[in-house]
Amino acid sequence: MTTSLRVGIAGLGTVGASVIRLLERQAGALAARTGRRISVTGVSARDRSRDRGVEIGDAKWFDDPVALARSSDIDLFVELVGGAEGVAREAVEAALSSGKPVVTANKALLAKHGMSLAKLAEDKRVALAFEASVAGGIPIVKTLREGLAGNEISRVYGILNGTCNYILSRMEQEGMSFDDCLKEAQSLGYAEADPTFDIGGFDTAHKLAILTSLAFGTAVDADAIHVEGITSIRLEDLRSADELGYRIKLLGVAQRTADGIEQRVHPTMVPKSSAIAQVMGVTNAVTIDADAVKELTLVGPGAGGDATASAVVADIADVARGIRSAPFGLPTASLAAPARRAMQRHEGGYYIRLSVHDRPGAAANIAMRMAERQISLESIMQKGQRRKASAGSPVPVVLITYATTEGTIREAIDAAVSDGYIAEQPQVIRIERE
Ligand code: HSE
Repeated sequence: MTTSLRVGIAGLGTVGASVIRLLERQAGALAARTGRRISVTGVSARDRSRDRGVEIGDAKWFDDPVALARSSDIDLFVELVGGAEGVAREAVEAALSSGKPVVTANKALLAKHGMSLAKLAEDKRVALAFEASVAGGIPIVKTLREGLAGNEISRVYGILNGTCNYILSRMEQEGMSFDDCLKEAQSLGYAEADPTFDIGGFDTAHKLAILTSLAFGTAVDADAIHVEGITSIRLEDLRSADELGYRIKLLGVAQRTADGIEQRVHPTMVPKSSAIAQVMGVTNAVTIDADAVKELTLVGPGAGGDATASAVVADIADVARGIRSAPFGLPTASLAAPARRAMQRHEGGYYIRLSVHDRPGAAANIAMRMAERQISLESIMQKGQRRKASAGSPVPVVLITYATTEGTIREAIDAAVSDGYIAEQPQVIRIERE
């Protein structure tokens, strides 16, 4: 057996502690599979005194992750601190600059600085591995980069945030409030340190930016992503979706079109019979449409200590074996600058929930605003019953449209709002068909 691989881990939260436990539990199998013993020889975290329920044994403690990244006590730096800037970025750059391979779960860092970090890793001829950055335990990075190398991919989409899927599932199934579901997700260790990243859709966007680059051979382009989170979703939307034969999921979608790549993150109505609609709780799912394999869906745990540690340890094992892939599947100079397709040109069906002043002509007006833009309605439904005393007060009206474009639907809604029949900000949810 060749010399052991000495690992330094920065960040001992839920994932860091699970990585240490998993390396310990699988020590024998990992040594057999990689031909090397893997030992944790350095650690760094914010608070040395906190009980994390793990033994760090003889590993040297570093107060400063950057010092750990540069230390000659380690051969591989594992970054589990998080955040696109600050100490996480400095430490990763320090490790790569000093010729050490890096394993990271940091999607925010990769979405923002993935290209420069990949270039640095390439120049230094060391690995930059990030399987854990997307979809927790699902090996989607390897699948896109190695497993589907013989395919041309046309679309990649999925449920990429366990916290949001957990919240939407619990709201739908238990009728619980948004806030209570979020608190549960936090207590289970799924949510980001700042949960706005989850519920605002940004975490999904970071992951989508990485998948898009891997799928289409383009430079990471996170700024091009249209991002909406789930904070506007109400129980009544989930119930209406159910009645209409849909479920609401937060999806990240990247699609190759004739005019460029469309990247979007938003709550989406998916048919209840579709595979993606069956994915509940913290589970993630990624579907890839490609020419040779046709359609491939991977489903698995998208967040949580053990699931994410599984992906981190797989990357550590690759480094132990001496594997060094181009981080985004191609040499950085060959990654194309992506052509962007604007969200206004997105085509699809729409669910629209309006709060409409219950007066004669209200529904006809809305239907007219749609018809004059050639928007065809699949259904229109007024919810609830008017009481005599409340004539003219707002009632919910739900519309489902056939395929149209984002720009057209927005124009129609703006026109209907200006006509004065609509009481509140309309809810607009896109429909994704398989
Ligand atoms: N907060 C993330 C999620 C963790 O809920 O999916 C995994 O990236």
